[in-house]
Amino acid sequence: MFAVAPASRVALPARRPRGRSNVSDSASSDCSDRSRHPLLAPPRASSSARDDASSEPAAPPSAPPPRRVVLAGVAATVAGSLASTRSLSTALASSDASSAAVAASSASVSASEPGAILITGANSGVGFAAAKQLAAAGKRVVLACRTEAKGLTAASAIREKVPGAALDVLPTVGLEMTDLRATRDYASAFLDSGIPLDALVLNAGIMAVPLGRTAQGHEMHFGVNHLAHFLVQDALMPRLREAEARTGAPGALAACSSIANMLPGALDVDDLDWLRREKNYEKWAAYAASKAENLLLTDEAARREGGKVACNAFHPGIVTTNLVRYILPQLTAENRDPEAERATPGGRLVARMGIRDADEGAKTHVWLASSEDARRVTGKFFLDPGLEYPGATRKELDAAQDWFLVQGSEPLAAQLKLPQKFFEWRTEENARKLWVRSEEMIDAFRVK
Ligand SMILES: NC(=O)c1ccc[n+]([C@@H]2O[C@H](COP(=O)([O-])OP(=O)(O)OC[C@H]3O[C@@H](n4cnc5c(N)ncnc54)[C@H](OP(=O)(O)O)[C@@H]3O)[C@@H](O)[C@H]2O)c1
Repeated sequence: MFAVAPASRVALPARRPRGRSNVSDSASSDCSDRSRHPLLAPPRASSSARDDASSEPAAPPSAPPPRRVVLAGVAATVAGSLASTRSLSTALASSDASSAAVAASSASVSASEPGAILITGANSGVGFAAAKQLAAAGKRVVLACRTEAKGLTAASAIREKVPGAALDVLPTVGLEMTDLRATRDYASAFLDSGIPLDALVLNAGIMAVPLGRTAQGHEMHFGVNHLAHFLVQDALMPRLREAEARTGAPGALAACSSIANMLPGALDVDDLDWLRREKNYEKWAAYAASKAENLLLTDEAARREGGKVACNAFHPGIVTTNLVRYILPQLTAENRDPEAERATPGGRLVARMGIRDADEGAKTHVWLASSEDARRVTGKFFLDPGLEYPGATRKELDAAQDWFLVQGSEPLAAQLKLPQKFFEWRTEENARKLWVRSEEMIDAFRVK
C-alpha cells in the first residue's frame, strides 16, 4: 500500500478541463434482476461486430484443432463449465440499484485527490472481483466497462459489499473495445476527468469467438484483447508516469494474459489479423495469440519505461467466470447445473484441475495493482502474487496447488520441464514488431 501524496507533491497536468463531472451518481438498472442483467443474457446472433464482441458470424468449417489446442480449450471451457454462481450471485443477490451512490470526484484535479486503479472489464469475472477487493482495501477504482449502465450496475453491486467504496464510472461513455473510436473516446474522457492514475489493469477479454472483425476490420481477439488495450495504455501511460512523483512508487501497468499464451504456433506477428490464415482460422489459436500479445505488450512497455512504470503480465488461474459464454452459453452461471456436471466424467476431471472462483482468481490483479513489492519488478509474467513463470522453481510451482498444469497427474505437467519451448515466441523482436505495428494500426485514433 502506498499513501496518497501530500498536496505539495502533486503535479498533474491541466489537461483540457471541460468542467464536467467525471462520475455518474446513480445506478440506472437493477442488478438484482438476473434475467435482465446483461451478463446473464444469452449471446446474440448479431452480425454487427460494433454491437457486441459476442457477435458471431458463421465460423468457416475448420479442421479439428491440434491436441494442445484442445487442451487449452478444455482448460478454458472447464473454467466456464464451473461458472461460479458464488461470487457473481453473491454480488448481485441483495443489490438494490437505487442505493448505489458512486463516489464523487471533481473534474478539476484536487491536490489531495487519491490516485485510482482503472480496470477494464470491471463488471464481470475476475475484473469485477478485483475491483471489489481493491475497493475493500480502500483503493479508488475506475470501473471501465462497455457502457455506463454496466459500470453503474457493477458499482452498485460492489457498494452492497463495500459501503463507501470509492468508485468512478465515467458518465455517458463506455469502453467498447470492438471499436477503436469508442475506445479512444473513453480514454480521452478519462484524461479529461483529471483523475490521477496509479495503476492500469488491462483485464477485459473475449475467448474463442468464431471469426469476427472489429469496427476497423481487425480479427476480434486481436482487436479486443490486444489492440484496444494497446490504445488505452498508449493514451494513459503519460498519466501513469506521474504516479511516482505523487506517491513515491512507480505506476503499474498489469495485463491479464493466460497460460494459453504458450500454445505453439498461435502467434504470427506478420499476420496479426488472420488475413493470410483466414481459411484456417482457429478460434483457440486466435485467443492464445492475443494472450501472447498481452505479455509482449508489457515486456516491450517495460523496456520502454525503464522502471518508471512497472509493467507486468499475469495468468489469473483457471477461473469460473462468464468467459465461456461465447462458446458454451448453457454453462453460464444462470444455466449450469453443477450437480449434474459432477455426475459426468468431464465434470469429475474438472474437479481435479484446481479451479478458482473469481475472488481467488483476482489475487494477482490486486497484488500487481496495489502492492509496493510489485512496483519493484517489471517485465515479468506471474502465475500468482510473486510467483513468476518461467523462472519459478518446480517446488514453488508445486506449492501453487491450484494451478492444474503443475499437478503431476495432469497431462501437461511433463511439459513444464521444457518451459522455454512454450515461450519461443516471447522474444524482443516479436515484442518490438508487435508494438510498432500496433502503433501504426491505432495511429488514426491516438489521443493527441
Ligand atoms: N477465466 C479464466 O479461466 C481465465 C484464464 C486465463 C485468463 N483469463 C483472462 O481474464 C480476463 C477476464 O476474463 P474473465 O474470466 O473475468 O471473463 P468475463 O467474466 O467474461 O469478463 C470479461 C470482461 O471483459 C469485458 N469485455 C468483453 N468484450 C469486451 C469489449 N468488446 N469491450 C469492452 N469490454 C469487453 C466483459 O464485458 P461484458 O460483460 O460487457 O461482455 C467483461 O467485463 C480475460 O482477459 C481473460 O482472457 C481468464
